[in-house]
Amino acid sequence: MSHIFRINGYDEKDCLLNGNRFLLANGHIGYRGTLLEDRKSKMPGLVLSGVYDQHQDDWRENILFPNPLHMMVLHQKKPIHHELSLDLEKATLYRRSEYDAYDLSSVRFVSHADDSLLGEKISIQAKEDCELTLCFGIDREIADLHGPHFKEMKFIRKGKEIAFDGLTNEGLHLYEKASYALSKGNAERLDVTSSFATISLKAGESVSLTILAKVSEESIPELPDLSFESLLLASQNAFFKKWKAAEVHIEGDDELDNDLAFSMYHLLILGDEKRCRSIAARGLSGQTYKGAIFWDTEIFLLPAFILFHPQLARNLLLYRIQTLSGALKKAASYGFQGAFYAWESQDQGKEACRSDNVIDPVTKKPIRTYFAEKQIHISADIVYAIDQYIRWTGDESILDEGGREVIYQCALFYASRSKLLSDGLYHLLDVIGPDEYHEGVDDNAFTSYLAHYCMDLSSQYCPQFDLSPIQEVLERFYLPKVDERGLLEQFKGYFSLEDCSVSTLKARLRNPKDYWGGPNGVATKTQIIKQADVVALMVLLGNRFNQESKEANYQYYLRRTEHGSSLSASMHAILGARLGDLESAYALTKKSAHLDIMGGDKLFAGGVYIGGTHPAANAGAYLSLIYGLIGLHKENGTICLDPKLPKPIQSITFHIQEGTYKVYQDGSYEFQKEAKDD
Ligand code: IFM
Repeated sequence: MSHIFRINGYDEKDCLLNGNRFLLANGHIGYRGTLLEDRKSKMPGLVLSGVYDQHQDDWRENILFPNPLHMMVLHQKKPIHHELSLDLEKATLYRRSEYDAYDLSSVRFVSHADDSLLGEKISIQAKEDCELTLCFGIDREIADLHGPHFKEMKFIRKGKEIAFDGLTNEGLHLYEKASYALSKGNAERLDVTSSFATISLKAGESVSLTILAKVSEESIPELPDLSFESLLLASQNAFFKKWKAAEVHIEGDDELDNDLAFSMYHLLILGDEKRCRSIAARGLSGQTYKGAIFWDTEIFLLPAFILFHPQLARNLLLYRIQTLSGALKKAASYGFQGAFYAWESQDQGKEACRSDNVIDPVTKKPIRTYFAEKQIHISADIVYAIDQYIRWTGDESILDEGGREVIYQCALFYASRSKLLSDGLYHLLDVIGPDEYHEGVDDNAFTSYLAHYCMDLSSQYCPQFDLSPIQEVLERFYLPKVDERGLLEQFKGYFSLEDCSVSTLKARLRNPKDYWGGPNGVATKTQIIKQADVVALMVLLGNRFNQESKEANYQYYLRRTEHGSSLSASMHAILGARLGDLESAYALTKKSAHLDIMGGDKLFAGGVYIGGTHPAANAGAYLSLIYGLIGLHKENGTICLDPKLPKPIQSITFHIQEGTYKVYQDGSYEFQKEAKDD
């Protein structure tokens, strides 16, 4: 049975959500799941990965192309019936809409065989004799969040083809070409980017419009001289291979099986296999978070890709290696040595995070946040990912390709960022941990342990470098310890903050879109945290803490976590599963898997739109299942499982590089080794 994600009925208020749910992408380009007739207010978007532009002093963000998949039937009313279905295994979107006089259906793909190509074939069948006027072409109005990004837009039209040559504010040329082929009738030119055709159909007759489009960063592209059907098939076959390599099947809980399939689809459409461009926090679903790369990629996405697509995991690391110079510059700009990676990283490792990242929804004024300056755990997260990659794949060549230098420079950064205090120990002061609601804190446990781990790792991987400045700090580095209750204080002074509940804070909001952190946020002076922090530490560096302490911290922080970030649920699910709290682990796994279907309630951070897909939650659902409930881990280089499946799950079958595992309710499992081609 194949996995189809389907919605029935048309509701205008769901158009932004459906734009995310029905996103098609291939790692290089993404096309939002809007309808052919949707204009700017509904945010259609042909998204390009890893290419950015800044308009005046507005936010620098990734670039959208003019929309080539645009067609409308003049005087079209609301459909009588409307259905969108996304074939998750073949990455193909189908639409069927029924109108008074005709049925409209379409098939859309973003190619997995040619990563610059997309297409849509629309068929209209008359139910009664009718005359229809179709308007189609490239929609020049781009739904930029912080644009416009093209200061010049040139369109050249030749027969059925329209070519676009755009010059960005930063002086980059980007190109696009689209062709529009009608099966009957003649298209007449409306203007350089659009045409119309008036077509008479007798009942039962049909007309089709085939749109093919390509984008390029080099020159005006040529469109393939092949049928729509063969291009579609090539894409479907290529994606199905990716699907099979990562397939998971859950028996006993169809809802989770379907939600996970949806999450896996949204994960597998990301990741550029050809270019070192990494994956943005909102994938290819638009310009939210400026198309930038966060720690989401290393800590949430990479552990999934390592298992079924290690080559892509490697590419994600190469992006960090190639952007090391940006991290060196950032550290130097704050007066530190080594590599301080951008909190929101764009091309060449440029920092995209701004001091006006969050807007007060009431006053409309920016709330000053310090993510770029203080969320220093980012460098250690990258080093952690390099180490994980090597442990899981055995591929140490990444070290010689620049990984070693990254580890060393990150370690050097922490050594130079640490401060020697009167207790004779080096501390990391004035930082932000994963919980962003508490800014400028001292001795954040997550940051300190990860920094320690990074410095420690440098002696293992970088013996040929001058390690003395790192060793000096490492030997006298302050690591917060668990107290008599087994609790690890998230940061110095955290336990003296007001201890209240998430619902108490909700009642204190002036406005539902209020930002909870910053200087005056409702959470700032309380123990309510945005997302897993100590819990995340205990997942990443679990062997540093004993079982009792993990149990105590898990229980303590779970009750004080808002889960205001999509990154939070999976960390709790993994730790919960390891500790045997199957009920919560199961519920939180479902929460991550369902997030992008539901759309989440967090479309705004303060006054800023942050909607889009959530790859870290999509991957988080997978991690919760595989590393959490199934307990996949390595012991002395061998893959081991420690399954604890909550009821009603009967079995989970999953495929990774090594082969296929089938895990049963009673904890037993079977393994079938992958047959390797010669
Ligand atoms: O990286 C996350 C961060 O931890 C919480 N805010 C959103 C970011 C992007 O997903």
